[in-house]
Amino acid sequence: MKIGLFTDLHYKKDPEENRRFTALAPVRLKEAMEAFRKEKIDVAVCLGDIVDKAETHEEELSCWQEILAIVKEYPFPCYFIPGNHDYEVMIGDEFCKTTGMPAYPFFVDVCDRRLLFLDACYRYSGKRYDEEGMVWTETMLPPEQIDFLKKNLVESDNPCVLFTHQNLDKFLPKDYRIKKCAQLRRLLKKSGKVKYAFSGHFHDGDDHEIGGVRYVTVPSMTDTSANNYMIMEV
Ligand SMILES: [Fe+2]
Repeated sequence: MKIGLFTDLHYKKDPEENRRFTALAPVRLKEAMEAFRKEKIDVAVCLGDIVDKAETHEEELSCWQEILAIVKEYPFPCYFIPGNHDYEVMIGDEFCKTTGMPAYPFFVDVCDRRLLFLDACYRYSGKRYDEEGMVWTETMLPPEQIDFLKKNLVESDNPCVLFTHQNLDKFLPKDYRIKKCAQLRRLLKKSGKVKYAFSGHFHDGDDHEIGGVRYVTVPSMTDTSANNYMIMEV
């Protein structure tokens, strides 16, 4: 199956001087979606950090709606996972309500693949960022989500693809990585069912194969003068 991936748009209409590309998020997203349509992708996935904090919540919501409106123009489904910045903007079930996603974690079976969507926006206390404040260097999967992952890796008859905003790749700086990611990587390896794990968060992007699993970090769409998105056959 073909997946179109994009992440870390950090959309803000009036960004600071050194982050001016973030204002181009809608234009770049349209460009990506057109490429996805041309390449006949099966699903699109947004790996989080859709909008940045703005002066008012109205402004944040209008940025958010602008992005969602673009996504809805296209015939293929688009799945979202929240990034750390999304929980600075959206609280409680606002993220799920506006994107139309079920509560995390969840899975979908499509084209003989099981897509697993997890949310690692949790403080080490076990509380989600919107409850206790966002500290980007603290990221973990609560035990329920690890159980969900284990259960799906056992039960799925299909190969699995994993999506998290934060990173599992051991070659990335520690601050970006999900707590106890070595254990999580072992879990994926042991299952033998996961070939791809996609993340965003680390804006430069990266790509490493570790223990038979390819950990792909999709680069931010708006960090540089070039647009960034990805189409992957998984
Ligand atoms: Fe992030």
